[in-house]
Amino acid sequence: MAVRRKLIAGNWKMNGLREEAIAQAGDIAAKAMGQDLACDVVICPPTTLLAKIDRAFDASSVALGGQDCHAAEKGAHTGDISAEMLFDAGCRYVIVGHSERRTDHGEGNATVREKAAAAHRAGMTAIVCVGETGAEHDAGETLNVVARQVVESLPPQADGANTVIAYEPVWAIGSGRTPTLDEIAAVHGHIRATLATACGATTEGMRVLYGGSVKGANAAEILAVEAVDGALVGGASLKADEFWQIVSAAAA
Ligand code: 13P
Repeated sequence: MAVRRKLIAGNWKMNGLREEAIAQAGDIAAKAMGQDLACDVVICPPTTLLAKIDRAFDASSVALGGQDCHAAEKGAHTGDISAEMLFDAGCRYVIVGHSERRTDHGEGNATVREKAAAAHRAGMTAIVCVGETGAEHDAGETLNVVARQVVESLPPQADGANTVIAYEPVWAIGSGRTPTLDEIAAVHGHIRATLATACGATTEGMRVLYGGSVKGANAAEILAVEAVDGALVGGASLKADEFWQIVSAAAA
């Protein structure tokens, strides 16, 4: 059986101006410095901050990630950023298909698949987000919705080295509500089964993160759930101390 090293990813979303972000990154880097981390750690700041904070992480093992990318390598796409540009700015990961992109920008699975392929083309790991809405959850549709998103959002070359899946129930994001541990176990188990049957053995090492109201206080129990290979953290990643509590829980 593949051993999957845990990954804790912080998604700062559209938060942070230069001064506070540099301080925040410095605090996180200071905690990581000189430590042989027992899990992988990545911070995904707004694009404007990448060049400001990459120095802070230079001497630590914290990686940088983007929050989205365009599918094309370059061209007439005003306001967009390519995967190659993110790589050039120091990113080694990029989130694609976050539910806020799916909702705010109408991105469907086909678009997400193209963006994940762009991340691979640029040499980055794609963090592909999936997750059901509150209505789908209440209708008992969670497993079907998530399985379809996994199958349709992954490009054919996706494997354990270039792709991470993040299961983020839309209703749990920023709400303080989380599924029960049994529900999380059921969805992660279903994602693993879906990967095995639909995508094959190359996905055995693919990590499946949980995201949605992960905090310092609940991280240990969520990260202990079978088939949870890490966390994608929003609000709690904006506080260095709490973020590090989550990293420590993954390393425990
Ligand atoms: P919260 O941790 O704030 O619920 O956000 C989760 C998320 O959307 C991370 O991508």
